[in-house]
Amino acid sequence: MNAPCRILITGATGYIGRRLKDRLLKHPELAIRILVRNKRKVSPEVLPKVEVVEGDTFNPEALREALAGIDIAFYLIHSMGAGKDFEERDRLSAVNFRDACIGAGVKRLVYLGGLGVKETASRHLLSRIETGEILSAKPESLQTIWFRAGIIIGAGSASFEIIYNLIQKLPLMVTPKWVKTKTQPVAVDDVLAYLEAAITVTVSGNLVVDIGGEAMSFQDMMLRAAQVMGLRRLLLPVPVLSPRLSSFWLILFTPIPYRMAAALVEGLRSETIIQNNHASRHFPGIEPKRYESSVQAAISELEQDLVISRWCDSSTEPFCDILHQDDPGTPILRDQRVIPLHGLDPALVYSAIKGIGGSDGWLAYNVLWQIRGFLDKLTGGHGLNRGRRQQKELRMGDALDFWKVADLKENKRVLLLAQMKLPGKAWLEFDIQEDRLVQTAHFHPRGLLGRLYWYSVLPFHELVFKNLAEKIITRASSITPTKK
Ligand SMILES: NC(=O)c1ccc[n+]([C@@H]2O[C@H](COP(=O)([O-])OP(=O)(O)OC[C@H]3O[C@@H](n4cnc5c(N)ncnc54)[C@H](OP(=O)(O)O)[C@@H]3O)[C@@H](O)[C@H]2O)c1
Repeated sequence: MNAPCRILITGATGYIGRRLKDRLLKHPELAIRILVRNKRKVSPEVLPKVEVVEGDTFNPEALREALAGIDIAFYLIHSMGAGKDFEERDRLSAVNFRDACIGAGVKRLVYLGGLGVKETASRHLLSRIETGEILSAKPESLQTIWFRAGIIIGAGSASFEIIYNLIQKLPLMVTPKWVKTKTQPVAVDDVLAYLEAAITVTVSGNLVVDIGGEAMSFQDMMLRAAQVMGLRRLLLPVPVLSPRLSSFWLILFTPIPYRMAAALVEGLRSETIIQNNHASRHFPGIEPKRYESSVQAAISELEQDLVISRWCDSSTEPFCDILHQDDPGTPILRDQRVIPLHGLDPALVYSAIKGIGGSDGWLAYNVLWQIRGFLDKLTGGHGLNRGRRQQKELRMGDALDFWKVADLKENKRVLLLAQMKLPGKAWLEFDIQEDRLVQTAHFHPRGLLGRLYWYSVLPFHELVFKNLAEKIITRASSITPTKK
C-alpha cells in the first residue's frame, strides 16, 4: 500500500470491525476514521490513533461527518439483535449509508455479508443479501466490493465458540440432520486479509466475492476441530431433532443465547457454498488457511487470554449508567455493602474487581450464581456461560457472564449492567473510595412483578453480595503490587 488513503470503518466496536481496525492501523499511510455508536467502547490506547465520529447510520449529520473526505468506506454493520423489525432497520441503514457515501464522493464501499443463495436463505441471511443489493444498487455513482462469508472461524466468533464448547463438554453428541449440510468455513484472519486487500485491488465496477476454504459439513467441522484439540468425539445423527430442540441444546452447552442459536440453526439447514471464483481471480495472493490451522489459531488466541473481539461485543440494546431519578413511581431499590480498605491500595481493589466472573467464578456461593445463570438461560437470557473475553482485562462494552461493562474508571469505579431476563433494570456498581469499597446492587423494578422479584431474592443477596464484597477485598490483599 503506497498511496495515502482515507478509510472509514463502521462497526468498529463489533467482532470484525474491531479486528479490521487493529489490522489497518499497522499501515501508517492509511488515515483511519471510525463511526461508533458509543465512543466509550473505543479502547483508550486506540483513541490517539484514529479519528472517531459518534453516531449511527440513522443519523444523517453523523454520516455526513463520518464520510467527509473518505476514499474507502467499510460497511460492517447489521441489525440482527435489534428485534423483530431488523430487516427494515437493515434496509434503512444500507440506503442511508449508500446515499451518504455517494453524497460525500466516496470512491469505494466494501461490505461483508453472508454466504448463500436467496432461494434457501434464512431470514437473517436474506437481510444480509438485501443489504448487499441496496449498497451496490448505484454502480454508476459508487463502486461496491461485496464479500460473502459463511461460518467464520476465529477466537470469539459465535460459530467457533459453539464448536469449541460442544467438543469440550460432550464426548457423545446426538445431532440433527443438518449437521451434514455443506458449508465453507473461513478463518477470521483470511476475512481480514480480503477486506484489507479490497483497499488496493484494481477492479472496475462492482464486484461480489465469495470467500471460504474447503467445503465440509458441520459434522466434519466438529470432528476435525476435536482432533486439533486432541479429543475423540462421537456424533450420532438422528432424523428427529427439530430446529427448536437443537437450539435448546446449543444454549445449554454453549455461550450463545436462544435467539442467536435459533438463527444459526436456521442458517445451517441450507448449504452455504461459494458461487463464484472471484476470490482466487482478484485476490490470488490470499490462500485460505486450512480448517485445522484456523481452529489452531483461534485456540492459541484463547489460551494466551488475548481475545481481541467477541460475537457479544456489539450492544443489542444501548447500555446506560444507573438511572438516578428516585421518583416515587419508580424507586431505585438498593443492596449496599461497605467494606473498609484498611490501607489497601485502591488500584489492587480495582484489579481484583476486574478479574471477577468468567472461568474464575464469583468468589463466593458460586453455585447460587450458577443456578441464577441457568434460570436465565432457560428464560432465553445469556446465563453465566457467556463468560468473558479475557480473564484479567475488562473493556467498556465487554460481556461478563450475564452482565455488560457499562462504566470503567481506572482505580475508581466498575459498573455492570445486568443483561439477564429481569422484570426491571439492574446494575452492580463497585465504587472504590480512598478508604472503602462501596458495592451496590441497584434495581429499577418494572411494576408489581419487579418489586416482588426484588423482595423474593433478598435472602440470596444477603449471601451472595455480602460475600462478594468481602472476597474482593481478600483477593485484593493477596495481589502483589506491580512496581511503578
Ligand atoms: N461474525 C461472523 O461470524 C460473520 C460471518 C459472516 C458474515 N459476517 C458479516 O460481517 C459483518 C459484521 O459482523 P460482526 O459479526 O462484526 O457484527 P457485530 O459483532 O454484531 O458488530 C456489529 C457492529 O455494528 C455496529 N452497529 C450496528 N448497527 C449500527 C448502526 N445502525 N450504525 C452504526 N453502527 C452500528 C455495532 O455497534 P455497537 O458496538 O454500538 O453495538 C457493532 O460495532 C456483518 O455484515 C455480518 O453479516 C459476520
